[in-house]
Amino acid sequence: MKQLSAEKNKKWKLIELLNKTADYLSEKEFDDARLNAELLLGHALGLSRVDLYTNYDRPLIAEELDLCRALLKRRMAHEPLQYILGETEFYSLPFKVTRDVLIPRPETELLVEKVIEQCSAHDADQDDIQIVDVGTGSGNIAIAIAKNIENATVTAVDVSRDALMIAYGNAQAHEVNVKFKELDALKPWPAEYSKTFDIVVSNPPYIGFSEYENLPPEIKKYEPKSSLLSGNDGLDFYRKFANILPTLLKQNGTAFFEIGERQASSVKNIYADCGFADIRVYDDMAGKNRVVKMQWNRNG
Ligand SMILES: C[S@@+](CC[C@H](N)C(=O)[O-])C[C@H]1O[C@@H](n2cnc3c(N)ncnc32)[C@H](O)[C@@H]1O
Repeated sequence: MKQLSAEKNKKWKLIELLNKTADYLSEKEFDDARLNAELLLGHALGLSRVDLYTNYDRPLIAEELDLCRALLKRRMAHEPLQYILGETEFYSLPFKVTRDVLIPRPETELLVEKVIEQCSAHDADQDDIQIVDVGTGSGNIAIAIAKNIENATVTAVDVSRDALMIAYGNAQAHEVNVKFKELDALKPWPAEYSKTFDIVVSNPPYIGFSEYENLPPEIKKYEPKSSLLSGNDGLDFYRKFANILPTLLKQNGTAFFEIGERQASSVKNIYADCGFADIRVYDDMAGKNRVVKMQWNRNG
């Protein structure tokens, strides 16, 4: 940054600024420095990554330089690239993201895959599969499911109104019909949802206090704490929701949760104690426990 400011009167060509920005981020030990530089400058200048190189010798005017500097400053303060760009990709779909929502993670795609697998394998001949996404955030899970399962009616709930506004905008952009509802999922749900759902899916907050303290600044300084933290051991949401879940599922309904990599046996025990059956754990691509699936076979 200092170097860029020191050379304030220099006439910059695009490729020079790109190289300098990438070098600077690399010196400061940011991962994927060149990619970060390309995306920041591309965003500031309204150019794709390819266009940056085809316009490599384009001189930059003062306003463009100022904009590039401002974005670099935000990244240097560890603001996640996705918030700076205002967008990320999940399940091969673009999603608008702001600091009101957690940035969708690639590992959460496994949760979506498992729900889609269930719909295709067991519920394919069912006219209408009722699905609810609990803690929808940007709407990534609900919208990816709605895009891929034609015979699903998808409801998405969150306690955060600001998050729901972002999710609603994403659903409109993707032209899917998702019903949004603001509610606290850990309190009794309105009667209209009683025994309504074939599938409940959730990527809830599951980080414990001490783990939270050790998270990188990108997460701790910028992502909503209420999306991440869940009590001392990270299991508060699962524990409290275990009493609510049977009130939502139809008989033979299925629930899918994302979990932290060391939470599988605790989550299995919590839900087995509440009468859930056929509890299975699935690993992500890195071989880490990531998704728990369970059945509610009881009539009531
Ligand atoms: C880990 S984020 C997941 C966001 C998104 N589904 C995803 O996978 O990227 C958890 C979400 O749960 C919401 N949440 C936390 N506590 C909640 C509660 N008691 N009731 C409803 N939503 C809650 C947060 O606002 C946040 O959007």
